[in-house]
Amino acid sequence: MIDQMYRKAVLTVAGQKAIENAVRARGWGMAQRFVAGETPQTAIQAVHDLKKDGIMANLDLLGEFIESPAQCTQFADNVITMLDAAHAAGITPYVSIKLSSVGQGKTVDGEDLGLTNARRIIRRAREYGGFVCLDMEDHPRVDQTLAQFRTLHGEFGGQHVGTVLQSYLYRTEKDRASLDDLSPNLRIVKGAYLEPETVAYPQKADVDAAYRRLVYAHMQAGNYVNVATHDESIIHDVQMYALAHGISKDAFEFQMLYGIRRDLQRNLAAAGYRVRAYIPYGRDWYPYFSRRIAETPRNAMFVLRGMLKG
Ligand code: FDA
Repeated sequence: MIDQMYRKAVLTVAGQKAIENAVRARGWGMAQRFVAGETPQTAIQAVHDLKKDGIMANLDLLGEFIESPAQCTQFADNVITMLDAAHAAGITPYVSIKLSSVGQGKTVDGEDLGLTNARRIIRRAREYGGFVCLDMEDHPRVDQTLAQFRTLHGEFGGQHVGTVLQSYLYRTEKDRASLDDLSPNLRIVKGAYLEPETVAYPQKADVDAAYRRLVYAHMQAGNYVNVATHDESIIHDVQMYALAHGISKDAFEFQMLYGIRRDLQRNLAAAGYRVRAYIPYGRDWYPYFSRRIAETPRNAMFVLRGMLKG
């Protein structure tokens, strides 16, 4: 409950234009802790740096308030440019996209623009042997995202496209089971949006318990699981579960956000686990940065200290 209140307070304050302007003016140095840079080249450099520690990468071009169909298609073009740049730099691209950024919910030429643009992105990723994960957004988008995932999975195959499920939604365990016929590559997260109690568990303990159930069920079904969390107690329990059930270390991976728990990322990789960092980059870093601050007061202190230092 306190977590929810803290998150809501930070996101409300962060949404105010004056705060945004102040942070944008002075905050880039601090944002660099969580965002690799503003260009594909800076993101690619981060991929190379992580590789030295045995950590894989997931590139994410930031951009959430993209409104017109033309902007959505331009955004998809920018993702494709990033795929090309990664391939040219000798990297097999692994990217995440938000379907809303590429036009989900907008009909153009009789088809959902998000689906059209996602197809273009996945087609190019497949040419390079790469992978595209469809991020999960707020709850009104879940049905359409899962339906579009099913379509794209049918067209491109599970080696090239996956999606995300959020443990805070009551519906998610049923959603997971309903996808079993695809043997999908799924990322399990707790969920990052402010959701009402009518659709999401308000208590963190319930979110955490559902998280464990989802990961275990997906492993038991024989599917590849991306365990995306910084929660050490869950990470420990997943390690124990895999050991106890003979699930090999290459049947799942741990995923964490760039700049968060770097120590844990390195330790897990050194212990032979597959670890992938989610590397956000791009000029539109402010909303992403605000959400990271909203996740934990420790990050708010980090920013405040930085701002006070000037
Ligand atoms: P939780 O918030 O319970 O934190 C557990 C512990 O981790 C904390 O006590 C703290 O020590 C540490 N920690 C967590 N966040 C931290 C931070 N920002 N800074 C420092 N320490 C921190 N959400 C979504 O709705 N859709 C999506 O598609 C994705 N995609 C995604 C990809 C990846 C790779 C990750 C890691 C996360 C997401 N998320 C997401 C976000 C996710 O839903 C969730 O908000 C965050 O991961 C924070 O929750 P934790 O699981 O880390 O646990």
